[in-house]
Amino acid sequence: MEREKTIIDTLEWGKEISNREEKEKVADKIASMVTDNDIIGIGSGSTAYLALLKIAERIRNERLHIRAIPTSQEIKMTCAKLGIPLTSLLEHKPNWTFDGADEIDFNHNMIKGRGGAMFKEKLLISSSPRTFIIADSSKMVSKLGSRFPVPVEIFPDALIHVDQALRSLSPVEIKLRMAQGKDGPVITENGNLILDVRFDNIPDNLENAIKSITGVIESGLFMHYEVQILSSEKL
Ligand code: 5RP
Repeated sequence: MEREKTIIDTLEWGKEISNREEKEKVADKIASMVTDNDIIGIGSGSTAYLALLKIAERIRNERLHIRAIPTSQEIKMTCAKLGIPLTSLLEHKPNWTFDGADEIDFNHNMIKGRGGAMFKEKLLISSSPRTFIIADSSKMVSKLGSRFPVPVEIFPDALIHVDQALRSLSPVEIKLRMAQGKDGPVITENGNLILDVRFDNIPDNLENAIKSITGVIESGLFMHYEVQILSSEKL
């Protein structure tokens, strides 16, 4: 039975998607990799969103059955709009996961979290046997940190402690991420704050050093994760 239209059906990405043509290309590639009965971990951001739209097309045309494990509200609601059933890490292990990134270096180290979903993204990538990172050409960098700060999700009451502890790691700048659709700071889906921390240099041990600070939930630094990069330049 067809469900009644709701506010979910009016949801769109909301802003213009940069490099859309290249992102559509990697989205097509991801959609072509879906097989019937897959449990798929879905990352966040506009590239993951476009891939989800392409996957929905295949589900409709080929009557595939897949279940999605989302990493953010926007992806969860998009799955609802597209009629893609959801599951969770408590119920299923994903067969595979795909996600976007903000920066990727030659060793496949990454900065993620412009969208603020890095905690669940890291959890999903760590729980998945295979992860594909889909990227347009703007994401490839020769030096990590050259374009984006490292986002750090923190427990709100730990703000002062974490800020002071992060300063011992020689950042160039630390900024509390401010919201655009509300007054005050961004509040993550886990009820936390985000510090955007700019570094001139990102050594191998920085991810662990940040994570060891009490009050840090997770950072958007992904050093030495086993991921396969699907770059639009190579398709
Ligand atoms: C969200 C992320 C995104 O994957 C990253 O920001 C890339 O976004 P986009 O695909 O919109 O360029 O890490 O937390």
